[in-house]
Amino acid sequence: MLQRPRGTRDFLPEEMERRRFIENRMRQIGRKWGYREVCTPAFEDLELFTLRSGEGIIQEMYTFEDKGGRKQALRPELTAPVLRLFVNEGRTIPKPVRWYYFSDCFRYERPQKGRYREFWQFGVELIGAGSPYAEVEVIGVADAILRGCGVSFEMKVGHLAPMKHLLSGLEPASQHAVMGFLDKKDFEGLASHLASIRHEELLDSLMSLINCREAGDMFSQIGDIPERSRIEQVFEILNQAEIPYTCNFGIARGLDYYTGTVFEGFADNLGAENQIVGGGTYRLAHLFGGDDVPSCGFAIGFDRVMVSLGEVSVPQPITVGVASMEESREYALRVARQFRDSGIPATVDLMERGLGAQLAHLAKDADYALILGKREQERECVSLKNLRTGEQKELSIPDAIAEVKQGGDR
Ligand code: HAM
Repeated sequence: MLQRPRGTRDFLPEEMERRRFIENRMRQIGRKWGYREVCTPAFEDLELFTLRSGEGIIQEMYTFEDKGGRKQALRPELTAPVLRLFVNEGRTIPKPVRWYYFSDCFRYERPQKGRYREFWQFGVELIGAGSPYAEVEVIGVADAILRGCGVSFEMKVGHLAPMKHLLSGLEPASQHAVMGFLDKKDFEGLASHLASIRHEELLDSLMSLINCREAGDMFSQIGDIPERSRIEQVFEILNQAEIPYTCNFGIARGLDYYTGTVFEGFADNLGAENQIVGGGTYRLAHLFGGDDVPSCGFAIGFDRVMVSLGEVSVPQPITVGVASMEESREYALRVARQFRDSGIPATVDLMERGLGAQLAHLAKDADYALILGKREQERECVSLKNLRTGEQKELSIPDAIAEVKQGGDR
């Protein structure tokens, strides 16, 4: 038997209904904040992802050469593709540009619970606004979406400047490595790296920076930095907007394009892979040939949200199954069409089974059965059986439609 590729999943109808239900809620909330959907290709020129992050990122991607010898990659995320789209098409659009996306991403990772090789992200990018209000809006959208979907989580907000300030004496490659250890919370790796570059003294100050829970504490530890008033403004506006968060200057973010404010949200009820959202301010457009515009965005790990929510009950439409005999088949098709035209999902028998077998099947599959024999056909009526109560009535087609409609959603 052939199996699906490692790290991917199939979704059965019940699961797809739950996923679409939550996805739609995310879309509605995004739309309420003025964000509109964009869609980009599933694969891009490899260069789009290596330009900022370097060749190292190739290890974590699905890359291939197409028949024309072009190096391509399945998208590992959507920020770079969306900024490419902005540079290609969006320059004339009045700013700020508020876009959202819901798409699958591909990363060549070691699969585990909550970590897949194909996964879905719901994200937003706010392009062209650089004020602290823009950053707080983006954090507010992430908060509203997660809260609106019923996720219980903690949002951590920080800024890269204090950490970069502490690391300013290191070579860029070492800074990058240190940020990588911090992002993975690999403190042993961090300590041995610092020892290997003879900067053990940084360990203590990095650890106390990570443990700061207030901007004030952070500034008294590292002193004044040029970004101070900007950082203070962001936290003040977050407080005014009553967005719950905790301050955390240990957020390093794995992707290399972030410039200032960064944030990550963690679900309360997930294990190791509990980060359900990540984002921040960044600059990418100029790398792709556009103007150097400030941008800010986030992506929610949709699959992790679904695991965190667990059982989601989705309202189901009332469904009708038509049970018919050979001689009433044409009538059955006509009646089913009338039900569908009035908005009620209806199925017909395709197995040419006897009435009894048809009804036994419908009892598992539908709320009502329409029993259509010769008599019903001659009288242009239906026998409507409520499969939950067992009650059965002979009704005209419009009356049967009205009766089923009264049942409402399940
Ligand atoms: P990211 O932190 O790499 O950021 O991914 C965002 C979210 O996607 C993560 O918090 C996590 O929930 C989910 N995620 C990542 N990898 C996997 C995986 N292998 N399986 C399941 N879920 C996963 C970005 O992608 C940035 N583009 C976010 C952003 C948008 N920054 C600015 N704008």
